[in-house]
Amino acid sequence: MAATDLERFSNEEKRNLSLGGHVGFDSLPDQLVSKSVTQGFSFNILCVGETGIGKSTLMNTLFNTTFETEEASHYESAVRLRPRTYDLQESNVHLKLTIVDAVGFGDQINKDESYRPIVEYIDTQFENYLQEELKIRRSLFNYHDTRIHVCLYFITPTGHSLKSLDLVTMKKLDSKVNIIPIIAKADTISKSELHKFKIKVMSELVSNGVQIYQFPTDDEAVAEINSVMNAHLPFAVVGSTEEVKVGNKLVRARQYPWGVVQVENESHCDFVKLREMLIRVNMEDLREQTHTRHYELYRRCKLEEMGFKDTDPDSQPFSLQETYETKRKEFLGELQRKEEEMRQMFVNKVKETEAELKEKERELHEKFEHLKRIHQEEKRKVEEKRRELEEEMNAFNRRKVAVETLQSQSLQATSQQPLKKDKDKKNFFSLPSACSIASGRYVN
Ligand code: GTP
Ligand code: MG
Repeated sequence: MAATDLERFSNEEKRNLSLGGHVGFDSLPDQLVSKSVTQGFSFNILCVGETGIGKSTLMNTLFNTTFETEEASHYESAVRLRPRTYDLQESNVHLKLTIVDAVGFGDQINKDESYRPIVEYIDTQFENYLQEELKIRRSLFNYHDTRIHVCLYFITPTGHSLKSLDLVTMKKLDSKVNIIPIIAKADTISKSELHKFKIKVMSELVSNGVQIYQFPTDDEAVAEINSVMNAHLPFAVVGSTEEVKVGNKLVRARQYPWGVVQVENESHCDFVKLREMLIRVNMEDLREQTHTRHYELYRRCKLEEMGFKDTDPDSQPFSLQETYETKRKEFLGELQRKEEEMRQMFVNKVKETEAELKEKERELHEKFEHLKRIHQEEKRKVEEKRRELEEEMNAFNRRKVAVETLQSQSLQATSQQPLKKDKDKKNFFSLPSACSIASGRYVN
């Protein structure tokens, strides 16, 4: 079809036609319901609140069952997210419920980073979903969606105001998840104090720009109840797994020496309002908001971070193919640059090592030459000494021969002139003595 034909066709007004009889597409909503029921639903709740504030008790009370309850210790070095998934069934509807506990929240001395593991957990679930969406072979139909649909933020019933940890954490989470603030253990605060506390909490949230989840008022069927409930936020709740007999009925309640707090009594607390809003009226809206608002924001930021845009700087539609090609070129360029950098680094390293080796070789050679010189000098000295000793030995031998000759001459003389003994004796003693010659004292 030519472009002009297409334009004319899309500009044409749509005409309303009446049907001659029953066609059957009015069953479409039923088909949708049946498909959804078969597929089942998933719902993920994140509970944030200090240790022992009543998170597990409230979950048990809300779903009228006993989930495994593992008490957290007050000595966690950091906040840790603990997800637990359960399969629940009511009538023929299957619900895969995940409850995520922020274990150790508010227990560290330095709470500056307490929000970080929670934000990271939420982002990781978004990232997993995005990765699944970006796969060539997606299986979103049976994908276990772990994105957090609602964060129940448990406020400690101090009666004063919110803590800075509450405000910082809620502020960091509000663009990522639907937050429903609730005042926990509302039976520990008096009615008038609770009223003032609720007003204070709401005004603090507004003045700090914290966006909490608003029950939707655009659907006529629930607009009225939702707008009434919005005015009741934050819900002040009481949880209990204990059943107490009131009149002739067993009800969930907390029993005190002075009376009984009934969980499902609306004049005692807002538990029923919370259950109504969270499960019975707005569960689907919470799921939808998670997908269309929070996940969409995450996806947009992530894709923009990766270089994808809807329009180029001239406001022209941006093609996915072009973006991919640009990114690919950028990536290859970067890869080549890194490769070249590494090659250069390698060459430099080799040169450095080579220079070091040469220097070492030169040092060794110098050392060798030095030792050689010392050796030659020593050798020369030894040679000199040897020569001196030889000369001394020769001189000694000569003297020895001379002494021996003299001795033999004197002996001869003695035997020839016995009468001249006294005179010769005198002459004999004027000659150097044999002993002084032998000891070397005689000088030639
Ligand atoms: P951790 O998971 O260990 O952080 O605790 P938690 O927040 O899950 O609290 P949990 O539900 O285990 O409750 C802790 C204590 O508070 C228990 O003794 C509960 O009986 C009590 N508790 C729970 N809800 C309420 C409540 O609404 N009012 C009062 N007064 N006590 C409650
Ligand atoms: Mg618990």
